[in-house]
Amino acid sequence: MGTIHKPEPTIMVILGAGGDLTWRKLVPAIYDLYYQGWLPDKFKVLGLDHKDMGDEGFKERVRNGIENFARNPATDDERLSTFLTYFSYRQTDFTDTKSFEDLKQMLSSMSEKMDTRPIQVFYLAIPPGFIEIVTDQLKQAKLCQDWDRDRIVFEKPFGKDLTTASELNKKIRNVFLERQIYRIDHFLGKDTVQNIMVFRFANALFEPLWNRNYIDHVQITVSEEVGVEHRGDYYDGAGALRDMIQNHLLQLLCITAMEPPLAFSAEELRNRKVDVLRAIRKLKPDEIHAHAVRGQYGPGWMRCDQVKGYRQEAGVSQKSSTETFAAIKMYIDNWRWQDVPFYLRTGKRMTQKVSVITIQFRPVPHQAFPPEAAQYWRPNRLILSIYPYKGIRLRFQVKNLGLEMHVSEADMMFNYSEEHEAQPPEAYETLLLDIMLGDPSLFMRADQIEAAWQAVMPILDSWENSGPPDFPN
Ligand code: BG6
Repeated sequence: MGTIHKPEPTIMVILGAGGDLTWRKLVPAIYDLYYQGWLPDKFKVLGLDHKDMGDEGFKERVRNGIENFARNPATDDERLSTFLTYFSYRQTDFTDTKSFEDLKQMLSSMSEKMDTRPIQVFYLAIPPGFIEIVTDQLKQAKLCQDWDRDRIVFEKPFGKDLTTASELNKKIRNVFLERQIYRIDHFLGKDTVQNIMVFRFANALFEPLWNRNYIDHVQITVSEEVGVEHRGDYYDGAGALRDMIQNHLLQLLCITAMEPPLAFSAEELRNRKVDVLRAIRKLKPDEIHAHAVRGQYGPGWMRCDQVKGYRQEAGVSQKSSTETFAAIKMYIDNWRWQDVPFYLRTGKRMTQKVSVITIQFRPVPHQAFPPEAAQYWRPNRLILSIYPYKGIRLRFQVKNLGLEMHVSEADMMFNYSEEHEAQPPEAYETLLLDIMLGDPSLFMRADQIEAAWQAVMPILDSWENSGPPDFPN
């Protein structure tokens, strides 16, 4: 986050190189970094997976991923051919110790050719069931032992609840130091999300108002048009609370509610976020129904297309009680936020894809205008838009033009696409660059993950113990 130098020579080992994440997100992001001149001068990617595709098959998939998903054009054959020389592939059985001994040898011969001891990034783009196996293999093969140069990256889901997340943390911290570990929450890599921190902490204007005295409530909404797509198997064991609220929405809440950091350092930023998570009010079982609701989509129409209900999706049980929509009212028990509700809501198959944080200010203390003049009066709102509109909008009241006195709403707007010609980078560009640079500011520390699980556990427990009322609804 916020550097101006390129990373040192790096080898990126992607475990799960044949999977969707590598194809859709990692490879296009690496290409976009390359296109903009951010990759290290000496750089290699080694893909590992059980599929038999060879170097050429992997490079073909890389090319296809770039053509489909990269931000920058892939029309310059020479540029693309140079890029593809970075990639090689080994068919690997993650349960076989010998594979990791081979990996060690491969890495040492790649380092020799680079003429330096490069940074080694082990990116676990693998299903959760393989995480512990691979961690053990890396330990046994004595890979990832250089505390400064070796890094390991974990994708979500990180655990299934507080107990499994703490066990996983314990396990991986037996093998790696916390400073080698990068737990991804891709929302933190979004430019518009980082902009919220700049907006809050680089401007004096709003800080005096940023508290319970002036803010009535906060709404954090992340709605999606898509259903579970091809991820029914995973999603049916997760649900909206685990898949979105425990991580992405709680991180948005942290950035909105945290105290100003003393410095923009990784530890300071993460400490301030953990403070927020720890202050989230613990709900008692009999309070859950008044603070949390869940839903599940049925069959219907999206624009002109007929779409399946959740229970008809591939990989989903026909009697599934997994929620695809969740809305929660949370309170943060500290001086700044006491009794200010934070409404978090997310769902799949909603009418539009929108990610937005709305800060609603308190009403004016006394309405001086006659009722007929103030009938369209609304409280002030600050709208921090992450997607699709990328910007900030402040809503306030003005006089309507004309001889009569009428109050109406107006907007003051900042729109990224009007201010900048270039598109903002994809989250994975920022995150991959930060991993190579060794900056963990935008990654989840062990205590942060656990505190986030702690915050949702009462709701998870309550929902698991009481069947859903009327799904699909
Ligand atoms: C992922 C969830 O973490 O985030 C998905 O697992 C969800 O279910 C996705 O669709 C949303 O991310 P974005 O960046 O498209 O808003």
